Amino acid sequence: MKKSKRWMIFLGLMATFTGSAAFPLGADAQAGPFSAEARQKAEDLLKQMTLDEKVGQLNQSAGIVIPGLANDKPDDLIVQGRVGSILWLTDVKEINRLQHLAVEKSRLHIPILFGFDVIHGYRTVFPVPLAMASSWDPEVEEQAQHYAAQDARAAGIEWTFTPMVDIARDARWGRIVEGAGEDPYLGSAMARAQVLGFQGERLSPQSVLACVKHFAGYGAADGGRDYDSSYIPEELMQNVYLRPFHAAEEAGAGSFMSAYMDLNDVPASGNHWLLTDVLRKDWGFEGFVVSDAFAVASLQTHGYARDAEDAAYKGITAGVNMDMASQTYTRNLAALVREGKVSEQYLDSMVLPILEAKYDLGLFDHPYVDESRVDAVLSRPEGLELERRLAARSMVLLRNEDHILPLSRQLKRVAVIGPLADSTHDIEGGWTVEGLFGNGSKSHPVTVYAGIRNKLAKDAQVTLVSGPEPARIYPGLLDRLAGHKPTPPPTPQEIEQWIAKARMAASNADIVIAVMGETANMSGEAASRATLDLPGIQQQMLEAVAATGKPVVLVLENGRPLDIRWASEHVGAILEAWYPGTEGGNAVADVLFGDVNPGGKLPISWPRTAGSEPLYYNHNLTHEPEDRPDFTSRYWDINSKPLYPFGFGLSYTTFRFANLHLRKTTMGVGDTNEVSVDVTNTGAVAGDAVAQIYIHQRYGSASRPVRQLVGFQRVTLQPGETKTLTFPLGKNELEFWSPQKREWVVEPAEFDLWAGEDSTATLHQTFQTTQ
Ligand code: NOJ
Repeated sequence: MKKSKRWMIFLGLMATFTGSAAFPLGADAQAGPFSAEARQKAEDLLKQMTLDEKVGQLNQSAGIVIPGLANDKPDDLIVQGRVGSILWLTDVKEINRLQHLAVEKSRLHIPILFGFDVIHGYRTVFPVPLAMASSWDPEVEEQAQHYAAQDARAAGIEWTFTPMVDIARDARWGRIVEGAGEDPYLGSAMARAQVLGFQGERLSPQSVLACVKHFAGYGAADGGRDYDSSYIPEELMQNVYLRPFHAAEEAGAGSFMSAYMDLNDVPASGNHWLLTDVLRKDWGFEGFVVSDAFAVASLQTHGYARDAEDAAYKGITAGVNMDMASQTYTRNLAALVREGKVSEQYLDSMVLPILEAKYDLGLFDHPYVDESRVDAVLSRPEGLELERRLAARSMVLLRNEDHILPLSRQLKRVAVIGPLADSTHDIEGGWTVEGLFGNGSKSHPVTVYAGIRNKLAKDAQVTLVSGPEPARIYPGLLDRLAGHKPTPPPTPQEIEQWIAKARMAASNADIVIAVMGETANMSGEAASRATLDLPGIQQQMLEAVAATGKPVVLVLENGRPLDIRWASEHVGAILEAWYPGTEGGNAVADVLFGDVNPGGKLPISWPRTAGSEPLYYNHNLTHEPEDRPDFTSRYWDINSKPLYPFGFGLSYTTFRFANLHLRKTTMGVGDTNEVSVDVTNTGAVAGDAVAQIYIHQRYGSASRPVRQLVGFQRVTLQPGETKTLTFPLGKNELEFWSPQKREWVVEPAEFDLWAGEDSTATLHQTFQTTQ
């Protein structure tokens, strides 16, 4: 494992909290995510800084006043040099005003680093991250995040709290929408792509600093309840939860965010093992860590810190460089240094990477936003084209009985049903920058209803019956700030009227397109659900329109898999569109009408119902696997297998996988090998296949997953065309962290190998590794 020179310095400082530093911070030290030049400048600047100014760099203040939470106006602190960063501010005038205070009025003129959650686009909103992962196309994801970075930078945001790389095995957890799903290999590819998209190969005045979050284990919250404790044994941390984080770190991510929850009884934001032993010592990370919002203060809430001073002490010594929003460092750190509880040299090591980031981002040379450019950059038309392409690439066709799709553009009578069909508010999903904190989005999203309309002749009759909005059951902080009111549930009479209208529209149509799922605020932070049902009266509406006998296509807009057992048997076609973004409605119509052949695949195992969770394909074999006749691992009342497996997705064409071949069937544990497989388009139209490679180690020092993804490629094939795809098979694919050996190993063993279209692929080979 990589151990950097800076880490050696850091270790020395940790050992001498109260004493003087034994190691100088040399300019020749390894650069990490930041340049040697930035290091030199940062060290020079650091020498001029007072204790309060150093602590100031570790303070991130809220740029808006949040009732009951962040109330300090940052102006005075900025002038005193006591604000290193500001978050939750997108008003460019205000950004410039505060930056002027820092650059012109503070003693050392150190610019502020402005951070915001640019998660899936700025004005042009790309599909939500779970959707992007469904594209199985890291290149396009990188392009999208690069585009978002250009927008963000032009609008004064230099730091994004992206990517969220938390593995999620439980759809009840609302934040599953913000990540890449359940798989560490796919998750690592998407993590890498996003870091490169935002930062480029190296940070520059054009790029945006990435922040990998939420370090770590946040997705394993007990019961899927957001913020609840995670209990994750070290082998699972290493083999599953930490892998995408490490991939992001290796891609050069300059910052990490520590998570909110308790990890194995130690809050992640005060967890020395995570933030220092793993991140700095094992991986050699040389960037900086920001806590999640208020998480340093919350060390008290967890019952981990005695008081605010103890929280500051535990946060900083665990390895949190910057305190997001809680002001705990501002109020307590200087005293801790003066009292000798934290050495100034250690403090210096925590300040340094923040200054380095500011230098590499070019903030000292160009601290201000050019207000005259912002609107033109944010309105670039190529963003909409990219958005539409990526959205369509992200959609997963789950069912298509009797080739009901693609639809004809000659259709004359279409009924579009459901509360999400024409909702501009939901199609972009959560975390829309301009939509947050009251700025008001200028993105003009295209709904599915509008997208369908755009595809059909002017005289086609397209009837919209929306139905009541599924109750917004979480009138949380963001909803309150955005002025949303909880929706009262419909009365029995209203329900009857809506059902009658839907039935009538369906009866008068040639086809019904039901657009259903969850409102955008039902997924995301603090939006866990105990059931995965279609909320509100959507299920009733769906059953009513299907009862007319008309063909029904269900388009899902949602941030998590839902319980669609009924639909999976009674509805002709199901298209998972997730929250597809600004051009989402056009992209849905592109797929429905066959202008795009769907090629997205599930990045999660689709549960039948909430009671199946947590559910994931890469589980271990049980004592009595499910297909045995008697004492098996199964439920009495439902099939315990997923409704749709990980990696699944249909196409308007079909593919054949053949000739699965290994260059060597016996390989040394240190060797690299190569797998090849032929993929043929056996249908009549061009389409995209996602070739997936899985392995299983049959025995060893630990039980290994029944299947584990170790390679994938998305390819376009013309009808009849065959491509031979190759995949590396070496240390990266075969190694695992052995709980008994307590290290990363590739073991001599026998392996199964599969290639195919999803995690149930049957094309099989075996190979062997030898010492
Ligand atoms: C809290 C969320 O957990 C985190 O994902 C986000 O980046 C911060 N707030 C800042 O908005």
